[in-house]
Amino acid sequence: MCGIVGYIGKKPAAPIILEGLSKLEYRGYDSAGMAVFDGEKIQIKKSVGRLKVLEELTHDGATMPGVIGIGHTRWATHGAPSDVNSHPHYNEKETIAVVHNGIIENYLPLKEKMISKGYKFTSDTDTEVLAHLIDYYYKGNPLEAITKVMHRVQGSYALGIMFAEHPDQIFAVRKDSPLIVGQNEDGCFIASDVPAILKYTRKVYFIQNQEVVRLRADHMHFYTVDEEEITKEPVNIEWDADAAEKGGYEHFMLKEMYEQPKTVTDTLMPRIKDGDIVIEELGMSDDEIKAIRKVHIVACGSAYHVGVTAKYVIEGIARIPVEVDVASEFRYRNPILEEGAMVIVISQSGETADTLAALRESQQLGYKVLGIVNVVGSSIAREADNVMYTWAGPEIAVATTKAYSAQLVAIYLLAMKFAKVKGTISDSDFTAMLKDLKRLPDQIEMLLSNKERIQRFANRYIGAKDVFFIGRGIDYAISMEGSLKLKEISYIHSEAYAAGELKHGTISLIEKDTLVAAVATQDNLFQKTLSNMVEVKARGAFVLAVTNAGNTDIEKAADYVIYIPRTNPYFANSLAIIPLQLFGYYVAVGKGCDVDKPRNLAKSVTVE
Ligand code: F6R
Repeated sequence: MCGIVGYIGKKPAAPIILEGLSKLEYRGYDSAGMAVFDGEKIQIKKSVGRLKVLEELTHDGATMPGVIGIGHTRWATHGAPSDVNSHPHYNEKETIAVVHNGIIENYLPLKEKMISKGYKFTSDTDTEVLAHLIDYYYKGNPLEAITKVMHRVQGSYALGIMFAEHPDQIFAVRKDSPLIVGQNEDGCFIASDVPAILKYTRKVYFIQNQEVVRLRADHMHFYTVDEEEITKEPVNIEWDADAAEKGGYEHFMLKEMYEQPKTVTDTLMPRIKDGDIVIEELGMSDDEIKAIRKVHIVACGSAYHVGVTAKYVIEGIARIPVEVDVASEFRYRNPILEEGAMVIVISQSGETADTLAALRESQQLGYKVLGIVNVVGSSIAREADNVMYTWAGPEIAVATTKAYSAQLVAIYLLAMKFAKVKGTISDSDFTAMLKDLKRLPDQIEMLLSNKERIQRFANRYIGAKDVFFIGRGIDYAISMEGSLKLKEISYIHSEAYAAGELKHGTISLIEKDTLVAAVATQDNLFQKTLSNMVEVKARGAFVLAVTNAGNTDIEKAADYVIYIPRTNPYFANSLAIIPLQLFGYYVAVGKGCDVDKPRNLAKSVTVE
């Protein structure tokens, strides 16, 4: 979490930094700050609150003249959001300034040591220890001081560092937190993520773990932690710069929901060739696929919900047992990976700390890992043995929608590929499923065009206190995601339950007018879910149902019905989630919540 930006060149640095930070606010937005060298000293301005507070404080950067600077937008870990805890942090003489994304795990012993040497701390952050440590090791050679500090600190960090004594250079350092650098004819840039500098350059360098970059106005040098110079090749970023702009939509989340037909098409179509599924990136021969005995899927949040769906789809079609884990649990439970196991990690950002750790844990146990990843060049993309990209483009809203939808179809492709190779699906069923897959984008489009009806319904529930989502099988997985979408952006408490489980305790919470959203897309489970709907309705619940077109029987048990087009039951998630995303979105908008940047959250969770 947290976003960092740096610039050194011919242009005023502050406006470039502010512009870059505005593209990184999705990473954290409880405070922001900047350090700019004004020709004599390093000037710092920082404040709790959104970036716009810093913009006002600095008159859009005009009060911070200078062509060298670093900036930060924060998601607090150590120390509450406050002016003093905001980054950048100085050493005591105010000659070294540091911005940091990550966590310094051994900051307490280091802080004690620095205090015993007479250093005075002003903040509660782990980052401040870095400023003092660099000061402690600095004897005139910045690179030497930085690498000494890298040898001392444990944890994760992406850093931007500047020295008043070396105003012709800034430094970028990385370990386990994302960092890129880029260059154009006017200068060099540091950023946590590509959108921050896409306006200025498409030529970026991905910094690897334990690497340092010295940026000057017209060139960059790359070093290892042992100060050895290394060379790097730039990557040309193909993204459309407009993809990271709102483009007339009120929120990024709405725009990204509307992009789902495209992201689903982009993820599916390059892998469907001549009536077959070709996933070159899988890096597995047919014999290797046939040898898979078990699939372990590991992910967090919505990506984990994709994993839950994947269990039903892969087990159902390819008849391979699937175990799904939340990454933060998997990494510490000493997992048993048996002979023939395949590990899949799913991540939009490719930077989620727990998912990355699960990947490494699996590799240490001797297993190859397939990453289903959205962000090209991210840590998981680089470290996974094979990468299947979801071509969703930059996702800015904190609540995922389009990347989730792209992950779902990536899973359908994998499941069908496995089934075809293993012979667990007939040719005619495979062809019929392919046809249904290709129809998904249009069907999603159709559901999105019905948004007004959902908006009207959502407006009735902006005062809700508790909402329950129920479903069975894949419908349960859909319920989990529907519930998360609602709660994370509207702050309304909601829970997802396997419909049959409700009566084992939770049904006691149902009272008059409690909203229960029931998902019933699986024909073989329809009557069962219907019974559960009747049970909650009998206890006063208001029942919203999401079901397939034609299932009009449901109107006996539901107060409000949203029909989705028919598709193969294994793909129903891709359609049923659309009205639930819209519902969460419009409830949050109706409540006046900050939809794109919900409180306490950040887009990329790079801490445990
Ligand atoms: C919810 C959401 C999160 C992410 C989770 C994993 O809307 O976006 O639950 O799904 O933090 O993030 P990635 O996919 O980047 O690993």
